[in-house]
Amino acid sequence: MARFIDELKRTHRCGDLRASDVGKEVVLFGWVATRRDHGGCIFIDLRDREGIAQCVFDPSYAASIQEKGLAVDLAQMQGAHDLAERVRGEWVVGIRGVVVSRGDKVNPNLATGEVEVWVVEATVFNEAKTPPFEIADDLDTREEVRLQYRYLDLRRPKLQKTLRTRHLINHTTRTYFNDNGFLELETPFLVKYTPGGARNFLVPSRMTPGSFYALAESPQLYKQLFMVAGFDRYFQIVKCFRDEDLRLDRQPEFTQIDVEMSFVSQDDIFKIMEGLVLSIWKAALGEDLKAKYPTGRFPQLPFDKSMELYGNDKPDVRFDLHHTDLTALLQKLDGGGVPMWQEVVRKSVVVRTYTDPEGKDWVTHSQIVKALVVPASAEFSRTEADKLEEYVKSMGAKGLARAKVAPDGTWTQSPLAKTISDEARKAINEATGAKAGDLLLFQFGKESLVQTVMANLRVHLAKKLKLIPEVGHGGRFELLWVVDPPLFEYDEDNKRWSAAHHAFTRPQDASVPFLETDPGKVLCHRYDLVLNGFEIGGGSIRLHDPLVQAKVFTALGIDDEEAKRKFGFLLEALRMGAPPHGGIALGMDRLAMLLAGAESLRDVIPFPKTQKGTDQMTDAPTAVTNEQLKELHVKVSLPQGS
Ligand code: AMO
Repeated sequence: MARFIDELKRTHRCGDLRASDVGKEVVLFGWVATRRDHGGCIFIDLRDREGIAQCVFDPSYAASIQEKGLAVDLAQMQGAHDLAERVRGEWVVGIRGVVVSRGDKVNPNLATGEVEVWVVEATVFNEAKTPPFEIADDLDTREEVRLQYRYLDLRRPKLQKTLRTRHLINHTTRTYFNDNGFLELETPFLVKYTPGGARNFLVPSRMTPGSFYALAESPQLYKQLFMVAGFDRYFQIVKCFRDEDLRLDRQPEFTQIDVEMSFVSQDDIFKIMEGLVLSIWKAALGEDLKAKYPTGRFPQLPFDKSMELYGNDKPDVRFDLHHTDLTALLQKLDGGGVPMWQEVVRKSVVVRTYTDPEGKDWVTHSQIVKALVVPASAEFSRTEADKLEEYVKSMGAKGLARAKVAPDGTWTQSPLAKTISDEARKAINEATGAKAGDLLLFQFGKESLVQTVMANLRVHLAKKLKLIPEVGHGGRFELLWVVDPPLFEYDEDNKRWSAAHHAFTRPQDASVPFLETDPGKVLCHRYDLVLNGFEIGGGSIRLHDPLVQAKVFTALGIDDEEAKRKFGFLLEALRMGAPPHGGIALGMDRLAMLLAGAESLRDVIPFPKTQKGTDQMTDAPTAVTNEQLKELHVKVSLPQGS
């Protein structure tokens, strides 16, 4: 029988020791974080997931230890010292000793800094090769190397803390939903391929040659079927798979907190999710969001207003720097003397007018002119403005028209200044609030491109001008719901309407007449939860009424045959007594990223994929043998040269 583990059981975790433990005999297991040899006395910082304990190996302490009431075997103690001479970083060891106060030599940087352990017995469980990088938080090792040795990277306190945050999110989520009458139900990963939405990963079926499963991009259809089956309130913490181009906030497999409810309105879903977010903040950060949102409710921002002010539907509202849409103003002035603006506003038509709850109209045009003001205080040089132009060109913009406002309100440093009429210039200064010394930046043309460019430019400028507070704990969290978006978006390439979210989103009652006459005007019960400029969740009230459903399909140009082929089983189920229902999914990795103050999902997913979708540690994806392919009836044909 082994002495350590079998006989000597662990009494504490390294990071748990406190002044109140002084005098206790302890057994600790962990990894050697650092080792310092001061002649006869050797110090080892022993690390486990809870933190670090300083362990002291010095046989001359034997008498004092005995005085503290712990029997000492001198040979054992000498053996422990010999072992401490031998050990190196990341060796796995066990020790037995007594907790002693450090007196006035307290280490304020360690939670255990008031105490140390005088070791009387030790063992080495395993030796370790010298690690390729130091296990420390502030390291500049390349990410590829860290990902290759992810299990070492994960030993770093920062990542240990992050994964603990994930655990807290999961644990809180399960408790919260259980307390609110939800059932945690599972759904399959191997599903039928359905077109639309994100691109699916395909899995060849061995038993049905030539056929493929798709890996579920979300449990969407199944959670709706749970409602039809009468489960009423469902949730699941679930992996989803999407074969998309990756970004810092996108991974090919990611985790959703997925929810569906029956007999609810949009607002009922908001309330449940707001309660969850409040609970998660409290558990993960110890922060009470009610200090910021006293009613526990988050603000709601209409989609069209969000587009007009910020250029997208996931605005970061920790800073202002909003856009001004000049289209209507310049339409009245027939371009205000600027030929390119004249061309844009003459072509532009009104797509939709949204009246917000305060009675203000937000008008969406097909072609737009937008402006953004860089305040004089930014002291932007011409070179810096030139760099901005390069930046917008990298997104496909033709250029970045600009003008500096002189003390008398005229424009300088701008080709626009030559042709713009006094009336238009004054109206633009007034509409944008631009004052002397401010820099006006303009984009104009097709709505979608102008919005994308201006949305990114706004964030780019905010970063440059340091308008964004530090993310994470202590920084500001701005949560909001984006509501009332259009049901359809126009697909320019195919000259047809397509579903902006998915075909089973319920149109708002007031919009139903437009389904047949003017699909662009149809608003729907879809919503996104936005945190600091990231979409952390999205969902909708589903369309369970067959008559409206048929109208939506007609607007999308989907005939009965196609509808049956694509969504047959769901359509059938919806006609078998489907309750009114709706739901949402939170992106749990994005949530963890923002809570941890990290900049990439790779920092919060235990074993993430690289930008190219590869696993740096295992080399996945890899080629497989011809035998395996044969069994699957799959032939690989690679382009020449690959
Ligand atoms: P949606 O597609 O909006 O909705 O996804 C919900 C949330 O999941 C997160 N997310 C991702 N996170 C990391 N990597 C990705 N590739 C990725 N894709 C999405 C986002 C997003 O808000 N079935 C619907 C939900 C519903 O309608 O109930 C759905 O999946 O934070």
